[in-house]
Amino acid sequence: MSSAEKDLDAKSGADGDDEAIEQIKSRIEAWYNVLHDRDQAWRELQKEKQLGWNSAAVEESWRQRALALASVNRQRGVGVPSTHKYVRFYLEWLPKLDPHLFDVNGPQRTFADVGSSPGGMCETLVATHGWVGHAFSLAVEAEGFGMSFEHGNLSYHDVDFATPDSWRSCLAKSPPESCDFVNLGIVVDRGQSKQDDQSTDSRRNHEQTAPSQVPLILFNELRYGLQALRPGGSLYFAFQLGSNLSLLYGLLCELRPAFECVRVTPTFAAHRTPVYVFLGVFCGRNVAAGAAALEFVERARPDSWEWVLRLHCFQWSQGVQAMHEELAADLHHVWGLQMDHLRQMRHDAERKYSSGRHRKDTHSREPLGRSRW
Ligand SMILES: C[S@@+](CC[C@H](N)C(=O)[O-])C[C@H]1O[C@@H](n2cnc3c(N)ncnc32)[C@H](O)[C@@H]1O
Repeated sequence: MSSAEKDLDAKSGADGDDEAIEQIKSRIEAWYNVLHDRDQAWRELQKEKQLGWNSAAVEESWRQRALALASVNRQRGVGVPSTHKYVRFYLEWLPKLDPHLFDVNGPQRTFADVGSSPGGMCETLVATHGWVGHAFSLAVEAEGFGMSFEHGNLSYHDVDFATPDSWRSCLAKSPPESCDFVNLGIVVDRGQSKQDDQSTDSRRNHEQTAPSQVPLILFNELRYGLQALRPGGSLYFAFQLGSNLSLLYGLLCELRPAFECVRVTPTFAAHRTPVYVFLGVFCGRNVAAGAAALEFVERARPDSWEWVLRLHCFQWSQGVQAMHEELAADLHHVWGLQMDHLRQMRHDAERKYSSGRHRKDTHSREPLGRSRW
């Protein structure tokens, strides 16, 4: 551990938290300054985000959206999405990632889906591809969506991946080295069943400092996923930590050597959970790189300072540069979609905002106008 890391570790008690967080933030910021200098697509996306954060019109449109969402949720009970949008998305993207694995005329394969509700991925793989699998998701009583898709080739189990032994309990159902494909699709969405806090501060904070539960859940998912994959199998995971690329790259520097390829795809909520990551063709845990990846995810303690420091990459090293070059085309596509979406949202919000103000102004002058008659 470097002296700076020891320093942070010593401060990690309750009293030192704020100071330690500030130090981590400044190291992460230095890393992002390098990214900012090197990547125009990233720069443009950040500029658009800043414009949105500074815009009263965007702020107002988020407020209206939260009110509308709350009213829909009140009318319907909990806001459970249908599987259609997920199925459409996976049918488009999975064959682009690996046309051989996701060939609808290919052999029957085995999969596991974590964070499976409402069941779009399962529906895609079971109903369209004819695969068999296990699905795990948060129970309805714990505010999970509930599975809308059921089939004889799918066994579903309630599991909360925020609990430490969740991944072991899943391995008891779908054993080690049994899957050709594992989807780790948990998204801890504050809008899942309750009214969302959509204030600018909340959106910006969510972007910059991820809720601590999210990395814990991601590592529990990875512990299960890497164990469940058979050699040659592929992993897909939702990386919902906003723009925390220093964390994603840190993670990929550890996992990538155990796979033949890495790809990044958008999600259908471009402004919210920017990426899914695909790691194709696992070398297996009997190969050194596979064993190292497994050991890494099992030993990781994403809730300790030492691990936060280890997980984020703070140096723009050769390995990071190579990762960035490998992912650049995919990331530019994702960032481009995200930027177009945010820009469109801002323009719409501004149009609506100014026409609302215009109406208000006209309205407030009306009595004067009428009095002339
Ligand atoms: C974006 S949805 C996944 C969509 C799903 N893959 C599909 O294709 O229909 C995210 C899911 O993660 C679940 N989730 C959130 N927190 C969880 C947790 N702690 N443990 C297990 N599942 C969780 C949510 O309830 C939700 O079903």
